[in-house]
Amino acid sequence: MGSEIIELDRQGLENVIVGETSICCVDQGQLLYRGYPIAELAEKCVFGEVAYLLLYGELPNAAQLKWFRDQLSEFHGLRKEVVDTLRMIPPGVPMMSVLRTCISMASHFDPVSGQTVEALRRRATWLLAVASDIVAARYRLLNGKDPIMPKPGAAHAHQMLYMFHGTEPDDLSTRILDLTLVLYGEHDFNASTFTNRVVASTASDMTSCTVSAIGALKGPLHGGANEEAIALILRFRNAQEADAWVRDALAKKEKVMGFGHRVYKHGDHRAVILEREMRKLAELKGRQDLVAIYDAIKNPMVTKEHPIYPNVDYPCGMVYYLLGLPPDLYTPLFACSRIAGWCAHYIEQIQHNRIYRPLSRYTGPTLRHVTPIDQRA
Ligand code: ACO
Repeated sequence: MGSEIIELDRQGLENVIVGETSICCVDQGQLLYRGYPIAELAEKCVFGEVAYLLLYGELPNAAQLKWFRDQLSEFHGLRKEVVDTLRMIPPGVPMMSVLRTCISMASHFDPVSGQTVEALRRRATWLLAVASDIVAARYRLLNGKDPIMPKPGAAHAHQMLYMFHGTEPDDLSTRILDLTLVLYGEHDFNASTFTNRVVASTASDMTSCTVSAIGALKGPLHGGANEEAIALILRFRNAQEADAWVRDALAKKEKVMGFGHRVYKHGDHRAVILEREMRKLAELKGRQDLVAIYDAIKNPMVTKEHPIYPNVDYPCGMVYYLLGLPPDLYTPLFACSRIAGWCAHYIEQIQHNRIYRPLSRYTGPTLRHVTPIDQRA
């Protein structure tokens, strides 16, 4: 097996199993986090329980959840050096780039030492806290306000909304943001998690892996699609315009953001759950006009001969917009949740590690020799 070369006929590692994981199972029929169906987790758990489940392998009891929240509280609050860095970054820089830079910056003051599994779980908890602090602080600074201190012991979604706005969030916004965090928490070997695991396989540190994963998630073909999806919906004045556009886009073979998935060919479990909540939220907010555009884009996609279904990012863009959050926060919110999954994968990878090092088929020039610089044309 060691010297046998396996050549793939499709690009993008499609249908290739590159490793084992006990964290998440993604297939057409089900999405499980550590064995639990996503629909049950979405209905019965808050993000703190799911993050604990991903990092510790089991759902917490009430005392363990409190302990986990206390740890998050202990880690919340940015150092002055990080806030100073946030102030120095020009206003137009995308929030995902800010998050990438400032997590890296914050890690120079990493409050956790060691590489034991327990230390790594604590570092993951620190990363969860610091990521949401960075996004919230940047959001406030861009709006001419100083970052505020977090609220001790608050649940994660509550904390995030509180740190954005400086006021107590309403229950509906908190519950729906929490649901998106649960749905975004983990998704096996997607592009950002695979990036994270490749970097982990070099025996690099958890923060470097997280920063690399943020870079992968930022791309519009991955997490960046939730921002692109709402931008698309907002381009149209009504359903007719949207319908005409999407039919034309399909004819021209253009990508429609928030649709399609490498693994799910019959629909994304998370999108189904979130779309249900999005419809209720839109009704509450009196935005049926946006739902009509949402459906006008979706219908031709799912009824065509080879249907392409919405992925989680399509309803999520709408949900965040209806919650009044600015689009630049959407992918960072995804990252603030997925850190739990990335860190669980980091811990798993380093426990059963072999460096990732595939081969390539060379397609460059055949052998040639260097002409001295003074003789080159
Ligand atoms: N819009 C229009 N056509 C599409 C879309 C789309 N969103 N997605 C796939 N297709 C088409 C492909 O062009 C391809 O057509 P072809 O057979 O004529 O060449 C066919 O459907 C099959 O494509 P796949 O092989 O299934 O796509 P792939 O696995 O390479 O890419 C990806 C998956 C990147 C998610 C793709 O669907 C896409 O770009 N979607 C838009 C971006 C997006 O929403 N990303 C978020 C993904 S979910 C997440 O990361 C959380």
